Amino acid sequence: MRSPVLLSSLLLAAPLAVSAAGTLGFAVGNTNPDGSCKKQSDFEDDFKAIQSNTDATIVRTYSSSDQYANPCNTPSEVLAAAKSAGIKVVLGMWPDGGAYAKEKAAIDAANPTQYGDTLYAITVGSEGIYRGTYSADDLVGWLKDMKNDYPDVTIGTADSWNGWANGSMDSIIQNVDLVLANGFAYWQYQEISNATKTYFDDMAQALGHVQEVSGSLDKVKFMNGETGWPGTGGTDAGAAKAGDDNMKTYWQSAVCGLLDWGVDLFWFEAFDEPDKPDAIGDNGQKASEQHWGSFTSDRKPKFDMHC
Ligand SMILES: *[C@@H]1O[C@H](CO)[C@@H](O)[C@H](O)[C@H]1NC(C)=O
Ligand SMILES: *[C@@H]1O[C@H](CO)[C@@H](O)[C@H](O)[C@H]1NC(C)=O
Repeated sequence: MRSPVLLSSLLLAAPLAVSAAGTLGFAVGNTNPDGSCKKQSDFEDDFKAIQSNTDATIVRTYSSSDQYANPCNTPSEVLAAAKSAGIKVVLGMWPDGGAYAKEKAAIDAANPTQYGDTLYAITVGSEGIYRGTYSADDLVGWLKDMKNDYPDVTIGTADSWNGWANGSMDSIIQNVDLVLANGFAYWQYQEISNATKTYFDDMAQALGHVQEVSGSLDKVKFMNGETGWPGTGGTDAGAAKAGDDNMKTYWQSAVCGLLDWGVDLFWFEAFDEPDKPDAIGDNGQKASEQHWGSFTSDRKPKFDMHC
């Protein structure tokens, strides 16, 4: 085994090999503040706000049929909007609770390959191993099924950085083209002054282990699938204090810093979601997930998002 110090050096080596900065992306929800499904025109408004206030060129979604109650048909709506805006999409499937077939039907109905390189990748699942909502075996089966039906599309999945780093997801690393490793210093109860260090350490461990298991520096594409910090109105997590000032500090230090190292990342999330139910945090307590946007729900930027 390589030591964590050496694993970190793999990440440190990456930007020397590629001089370009990492790509900035945003996580976007598929419902409007009133709970209705986003249509093409809603996603177009999202992309207009993102493109006029940030350097982002890609977004990721989470579910294709419905995440809460509505049948949203997100793939056709988001891909059409993205194509006209010149944005790339990582199309998410939410297979939890027996929804894989329904999610796949929504993908198939959109015929996503017709959108060319607007479709960057398809991801099956988001943090389901971490949350215990599906098993690694289930996930490998779904990933193989998607790769079989979409051999030319980049297929991946998203999960917490520690699952990618600690060996519990090695069977998945061997069956994906793309790893999205989520990392939140906030959920690790870090005070803002130590948050960037924690985030970099998380990403270095996850990337190092993916490289080790895949036996290559770049055979499996690695991106930070989510990072973020709750803004004003959000819940504190130990020493991690919610607030727009801390969100801005985290962006300038952690987000701009990781992009500078050449790692692609998705900010969670673009827009506040006032309709979103509370999440259960690592401490078992309810935490608001409504104030994580770097834009308000009516698409006003909370701070300058250029690095
Ligand atoms: C690895 O990380 C996952 C995801 O956080 C966790 O559920 C699991 O208990 C960890 N396994 C080990 C062996 O530490
Ligand atoms: C700061 O972050 C590092 C990396 O995650 C961690 O090892 C250390 O314990 C943290 N320091 C404090 C004071 O929490």
